[in-house]
Parts: sequence; structure tokens; C-alpha cells
Amino acid sequence: MKTDLKHKTVFITGASAGIGEACALEFARAGANLIISARRQAKLERLATDLALKYSVEILPLQLDVRDTGAAAKTISELPAAFRNIDILVNNAGLVLGTEKVHETPDLDIDTMIDTNIKGVLNLIRAIVPRMVADNHGHVINISSIAGLEAYPGGGIYCATKHAVTAITKSLRMDLVDTDLRVSAISPGLVNTEFSMVRFKGDVDKASAVYAGLEALVAKDIADAVVYVATSPAHVQIADMVILANKQASATLVHRDL
Ligand SMILES: NC(=O)c1ccc[n+]([C@@H]2O[C@H](COP(=O)([O-])OP(=O)(O)OC[C@H]3O[C@@H](n4cnc5c(N)ncnc54)[C@H](OP(=O)(O)O)[C@@H]3O)[C@@H](O)[C@H]2O)c1
Repeated sequence: MKTDLKHKTVFITGASAGIGEACALEFARAGANLIISARRQAKLERLATDLALKYSVEILPLQLDVRDTGAAAKTISELPAAFRNIDILVNNAGLVLGTEKVHETPDLDIDTMIDTNIKGVLNLIRAIVPRMVADNHGHVINISSIAGLEAYPGGGIYCATKHAVTAITKSLRMDLVDTDLRVSAISPGLVNTEFSMVRFKGDVDKASAVYAGLEALVAKDIADAVVYVATSPAHVQIADMVILANKQASATLVHRDL
């Protein structure tokens, strides 16, 4: 029997844009109540108002920088009673900065990627999973990347952080094997979101070149997969789902009609 999302509580990080925002929409459409978090509170509030109105679900928008360990723990411990029993955690917040070679990557970019992509995932797992374990119920879905399975030049730090997400996902699944909890990863290839604008620090031409000459994935493609993983029957644990655009064959091989 499929897992029903109606009245479930889903915590999504990085819900102010891209894949996280699309996940919020698809989970709300499926009847789940949501805690949506990111740094841009105004975007979260607009999304919460829209989705609550459209799908008659409860939505709590919460400003949270996932890098802040103390804030993550405090946010979770102070959740209103109605949102305290989190059924599904979608660890989605993440970013890539620059395309420098490993030895030329600026200190700040290294820290930001490691702190967001690795420590951010750990911060939410450590804040939310203990209660899931106590209840013997819950699903952790980490948004990793094809960069978590393969390395590519000019993405060394990002690839390292996403390889870490893959490893954390696998270890957590092993740690929880004697419980009813499930742990999954989704590993997308090229998805057309704000991701490349963030990577190229606002350079529109460089960002759009990433998606030139092929039909990249869109955020909804990944959100649909996340909902599929979350609604799979309780005895089914999807370990990792690798999703590529039709014209992408690996992290480094993309066919472009230019
Ligand atoms: N797009 C791709 O090609 C692709 C491919 C594979 C995997 N992914 C992964 O998919 C996930 C989502 O990326 P996306 O493509 O949707 O990118 P996006 O459009 O740039 O969205 C990223 C989200 O993460 C949030 N975020 C960034 N830093 C944060 C922080 N310190 N604390 C809290 N939230 C933070 C952003 O919100 P605020 O700025 O408001 O904080 C935003 O909501 C990432 O983990 C990314 O690595 C993306």
C-alpha cells in the first residue's frame, strides 16, 4: 500500500527556490502539512500563503540558515505542537560556488559549500532524527547529486560535499536498519534552477550557458521523484534515485544541439 501523505508533516530545507520550492508545492498538493525553511523569509511567507490557500494545508515558514548548528537545534526544539512530529525530512538546501580548480578555490567558497552541503545536512539530521527514532517512524530524503557519485573538473569541493551526502545517506541507512525509518537519496543531473546563477555569482550569460542546447530537468521533475520516494509503500526503501536529462549521460558528458 502506498504511503499516504495527507496530514503528514514534511520539513523541507531550501524551500525558497528551485527544487525545494517545487517539493513544497508537490507535497502540499498531496495534502501534507509543511515546515518550509531557507534564509529568504519573504519568499517563504509568500509560498506559504499561496500553498495554504490553494491546497488547504498547514504551512509554517521558518527562516533558518542550515549552517547554524545551534539555530537548527533551537528551531526544531521550539516547533509549535502541531508541527512537532515530523514524518519526512527533505534535506535539500545546498549550493555550488565557482568552477575553480581544487587548489585555486577561495577559502570562503570552500567553507560555504562544506558548511551548507555537509554540515547543513548533518545539522537537520541531528535535530530531527532522534525523535523519529524514539517514535520508530520517519523518512529522511537527502537531495544529493550526480556530483555525489562522480567527480568532475572545476567542481572538486562541490563533488566532495555531495560525495559526503551520499556517504552520510548510506551510513544513516545502516545505523537505522533495525528501525522502521527509511533513508533515501535523490541524485539529479542538470536541473534548471537558480543553482547556476548562484554558482556564477549572478552572471546570467554563464548561468544560461549551462542549460544551452539541451532540455535540462526542471525542479518539478525532481519534486515528483521525491514524492514518489515518499509515497512508496512502508516496506520499500528507495536507496538512491539518479535522474538525468535525456541528453546527459554522466556528470561530464552532455550532448548539446547548438
Ligand atoms: N540544479 C541542479 O542542477 C542540481 C543538480 C543536482 C543536485 N542539486 C541539488 O539540489 C538542491 C537544491 O538546489 P536547486 O537546484 O534547487 O538550487 P536553488 O534554486 O539555488 O535553490 C537552493 C535553495 O537552497 C537554499 N539555501 C542555500 N543556502 C542555504 C543555507 N545556508 N541555509 C538554508 N537554505 C539555503 C536557498 O534558499 P535561500 O537562499 O533563501 O537560503 C534555496 O532555497 C541542492 O542541494 C543542490 O546541490 C541541484
